[in-house]
Amino acid sequence: MTKAHIITYGCQMNEYDSHLVESQLVSLGLDMVDNVDAADFVLVNTCAVRGKPVDKVRTVLGDLRKQKHSRGLVVGMMGCLAQLEEGQQIARKFEVDVLLGTGSLLDIGEALSSNGRFWNLAFKDEIHDHIPPPPQGKLQAHLTIMRGCDHHCTYCIVPTTRGPQVSRTPESILRELHMQLEAGVQEVTLLGQNVNAYGIDQGRRVPGIPSFAELLRLVGDTGVKRIKFTTSHPMNFTEDVVLAMRDTPAVCDFIHLPVQSGSSRVLRRMAREYSRETYLGHVETIKKHLPNAVLSTDIIVGFPGETEADFQETLSLYDEVGYDSAFMFIYSARPGTPSYRHFEDLPREVKTERLQRLIEKQKEWSARKNAAYVGRHVEVLLRGDAYDANFLEGHTRGNHPIVVPKAVGATGAGIYTARIEHATPHTMYGKLLGLDGQVLPELPRFNPEAAALSAPLPML
Ligand code: SAH
Ligand code: SF4
Ligand code: F3S
Repeated sequence: MTKAHIITYGCQMNEYDSHLVESQLVSLGLDMVDNVDAADFVLVNTCAVRGKPVDKVRTVLGDLRKQKHSRGLVVGMMGCLAQLEEGQQIARKFEVDVLLGTGSLLDIGEALSSNGRFWNLAFKDEIHDHIPPPPQGKLQAHLTIMRGCDHHCTYCIVPTTRGPQVSRTPESILRELHMQLEAGVQEVTLLGQNVNAYGIDQGRRVPGIPSFAELLRLVGDTGVKRIKFTTSHPMNFTEDVVLAMRDTPAVCDFIHLPVQSGSSRVLRRMAREYSRETYLGHVETIKKHLPNAVLSTDIIVGFPGETEADFQETLSLYDEVGYDSAFMFIYSARPGTPSYRHFEDLPREVKTERLQRLIEKQKEWSARKNAAYVGRHVEVLLRGDAYDANFLEGHTRGNHPIVVPKAVGATGAGIYTARIEHATPHTMYGKLLGLDGQVLPELPRFNPEAAALSAPLPML
């Protein structure tokens, strides 16, 4: 095998893991190619959190099996679904050659040299100290600070797929960050299922590991320009994290704090370990210290037994908090979770109708929140060309997607200041400003189609 391609589903943790495995493949001498057809080894990094990502994996493995038979493609599967019996059944059905669980990613070399079927699901400790090389030519990087999850939310498969929480040492985290900074990274996102439980693994404070608030300060001291983190759990919420955010200029005023439901009764059945009132108390603490904080959340609609009155409480909580954005999910019964075993699913129509109403609410709030930025100056990190190459795209410190026209002196990736001209519920549109606060002259736009039409005809 010489050419490899990785297909990634799921969250940022999976993106980080794909990068980790990719760097192993490169060090083994394989070339990474950007599509399946050019590859002789394809690895699918899977997600199991809801039914939909599992269905996607089935479809893609079905296609890959055809290529396995037609041209000898070698097929691998890794990640959360691979760790589950459900995933292993799928892997058997689609004749997967290499299967790596969430804790055995470093065995990829052994897998490739085994020349036959290689399946490994063991959780190996060395993954916690492993430092993948930094991403090349990118301003943004992910950095996993912990693996696993110690909570037992009744709907969630993640504790099964990723095991109990293990925090990485601050030395290992900072060493990785320094390598990222040397490679030109300006924004780091610290990743974990519950980053604010960092340093407290399986209920015990780990000697030698600081609290998450202290870690934020240490990361701030490295000189990185922007720090983001996800996800925080309301049950592990402490005021000292908000204070560390306030005192550390590099930390963006952006908090993703999944509430899941606005009804304390549903929260109890979800085993989330906080009530509506406790959650609202946390939001008050955030707003007290960070009046400009941008807040986002995850919400599950149609959890088993959720009544219309429960759902109304979710809608009213949304109004009380005034979220800038939200990820909204229909409850998906996952085999192996307590809610799958003990509760009966609500009818599909009830769930989709509630989701529609919640989406309306989210759009209203996002429109209102984003409109308030029009006319304001914001710092933007631009990644590079937008879909239309006359424009650049990126994110604000509050994680709002932003699009700006290219301007003199600002034609590629970098951190700039922009003035917001227009905002939709999802995206902001701005103009780039120079150091003097004046709008930079825009580059003349070219229209690729018109350019093609007016191009001289090739000589025949
Ligand atoms: N550890 C994080 C995120 C875990 S997964 C936290 O607890 O906040 C990301 C999101 O997927 C969850 O926040 C939840 O909203 C959603 N999710 C998890 N299991 C789900 C299920 N069975 N059905 C629908 N959504 C689910
Ligand atoms: Fe990420 Fe959870 Fe999906 Fe695993 S199951 S990839 S942790 S969202
Ligand atoms: Fe899942 Fe809850 Fe952990 S949503 S990842 S069990 S915090």
